[in-house]
Parts: sequence; structure tokens; C-alpha cells
Amino acid sequence: MYSKKILLIAPTGQVGWELHRCVQPLGQILAVGRSHKSQAFIDLSNPDSIRSVMREVKPDIVINAAAYTAVDKAEKESELAYIVNGTAPSILAEECLRLQSLLVHYSTDYVFDGSSDKPYTEDDPVNPMGIYGASKLAGEQAIISVGGKYLILRTAWIYGLRGNNFLLTMQRLAKERKELKVVSDQIGSPTWSRIIATATAHILAQLNSPLYPLDIEGLSGIYHLTCNGQTNWYEFAKSIIAQYEQQPNILPITTDDYPAPAQRPMYSVLSNDKLAKTFGIVLPNWDNGLNLCLTSSYN
Ligand SMILES: NC(=O)c1ccc[n+]([C@@H]2O[C@H](COP(=O)([O-])OP(=O)(O)OC[C@H]3O[C@@H](n4cnc5c(N)ncnc54)[C@H](OP(=O)(O)O)[C@@H]3O)[C@@H](O)[C@H]2O)c1
Repeated sequence: MYSKKILLIAPTGQVGWELHRCVQPLGQILAVGRSHKSQAFIDLSNPDSIRSVMREVKPDIVINAAAYTAVDKAEKESELAYIVNGTAPSILAEECLRLQSLLVHYSTDYVFDGSSDKPYTEDDPVNPMGIYGASKLAGEQAIISVGGKYLILRTAWIYGLRGNNFLLTMQRLAKERKELKVVSDQIGSPTWSRIIATATAHILAQLNSPLYPLDIEGLSGIYHLTCNGQTNWYEFAKSIIAQYEQQPNILPITTDDYPAPAQRPMYSVLSNDKLAKTFGIVLPNWDNGLNLCLTSSYN
């Protein structure tokens, strides 16, 4: 019996929504979230809710696409951010260990402080600049210390055609305003949510293969998973609206010109070499990913 029972947490999020569609061929999918759009209810801020879903469903694989992702708000709501991003993953990891299941979890480039000038590897020292990054790091560390089977996929600068993201914000502002000021001194790798979900499904298909099953015990670990190449928010914004007939004037500004409650890393490009060497998976360059995303709408 090769069909696995897969529990997908947060099918309403940017990555979760795409995952819900990409992982269908891999087994029996149960999508759980805190909204009515999910098949069943889970609240990651409530440990009892997590344990009861895990014990009832007994999944072979858990994909946790849920997180507290409001980077600036987290500075004021640190307790909730730590519960959802730190405590909940630790409970999921404990429950997975009891069931001998695999936990797939996402983390962030914001675990780094941005002082590097070359792509961060999984072994580079972490030093988050804000509560969001620190709470996500707490989740990573909790999963690792539980010691079960896990994949922590660190990704970055996620956008897509739904949810709250930079692409949709720029598209909206471009219609409303004649001039936009966008930060040009933060460098990273914009990554389309669908590509993250597709890559995750490819990894799971390999682990699940009856012909060449991979030994997950030896593969548990952190993997960087972003589109390749690098850019800054200003250049990303220009690429997003490049095809618009009426384009607003876009002006580069510095991070200091646009103060925000949470500090962000100035440079958070991740090296994806480990992902390529382990699973043979290489994501496209960020601009190719953007082009695919922009041309995927039916409108
Ligand atoms: N967004 C980025 O740029 C970025 C960058 C690097 C890494 N990441 C990581 O990538 C992963 C996916 O991010 P994303 O951008 O897809 O996130 P997202 O679009 O903000 O979605 C977050 C999801 O988590 C759910 N959620 C939040 N609190 C919950 C709770 N207490 N109980 C149950 N569900 C809860 C939300 O449910 P509702 O729909 O009900 O609110 C939503 O479905 C996360 O681990 C995130 O930390 C994100």
C-alpha cells in the first residue's frame, strides 16, 4: 500500500493553497485549517487542537504550511508569534515522532541577519533581526530537538496570485498611484508560491517512490528552497509592472527612508546547492518564476 495519508495544514495560505493542488497525486489528502474553507479544523495556537487532529487522523506525512507571517505585527504580538511559529511545530514534531510520520515544515530567510555578502548555506550561523525570524527559528530548533523525521524547507520573499504579498500590492498601487517609492537596498530571491509547492511535491514523490525509496532517516534536515538569482524590491517592482501600458514612476529609496517596526536582513539570498545535490531539484531564476506566475492568470 503506497498511498500515504497526508495532513496538509493551512490550505488557505499562499503556499498551502498551491500545495493543496500539487500534492493530490501523492496520497489521501486531508486539508485542515482554521477557516471554513478547510475540510477540518485546527488551531495552531491551541496545543489540544493540534494533538486531537494528529491523534484522530494519524497521518503518514504532515505538511505544515501555517505560520504567523505578519513580520511587523509580530513585534507587538510576540507571544502569539512564538506560540504559532515555535510551540506548534514542536507539538507537531512530537506527534509525528509518536506516529513515526514525516513532518514537512517551512521556515524563512529571516533567520539570518543579512550581514553576509554570499548566499547563505544551511550551516551558516543564524541571528534573526526581529520577532518573526526569532519565532520561526524557535520552530526549527524545536523540530530538530524532538529528533523525528523532518524536512525544514527555508524559503523567502514569497508571492503569488492570491494572499497578501508584494506582487499583488504593487499591482494594486500601480493602478492607484502615479508614483511609487520602493526599497532598493534589501537583496533577496522572490519565489512564487506555486514553485515552492511543486518542489515540495517532487521531494515527497521521491521519498515515496516504490522503485527508489529514499531513506528519510538520513535525509532529515534543513534545506534552502528558493528561486535562483537575486534582486531587490525596487527591481522586483519594476519587473512586476513592466508590461503595464500605463506605468507609474517607480523611485528607489533606502530602508532608512521607509522605517518599519521590524528590522529585516539587508541580504538574505539562500544557496540552494544542498537541495540540488540531495533531490536533484533546481528552481528557476526569480525572473523566470515571475514571468510564469504573471502569465498563469486566466484574466
Ligand atoms: N510570505 C513570505 O514571504 C515567507 C517568506 C519566507 C518563509 N515563509 C514561510 O513559508 C510558509 C508559508 O508562508 P505563506 O506566505 O504561504 O503564509 P500565509 O500566506 O501568510 O498563510 C499563513 C497560513 O497560516 C494559517 N494560520 C495562521 N495562524 C494559524 C493558526 N493559529 N491555526 C491554523 N492556521 C493558521 C493562515 O490561516 P488563515 O487563512 O485562516 O489566516 C494561513 O492559511 C510559512 O512557514 C512562512 O513562515 C514565508
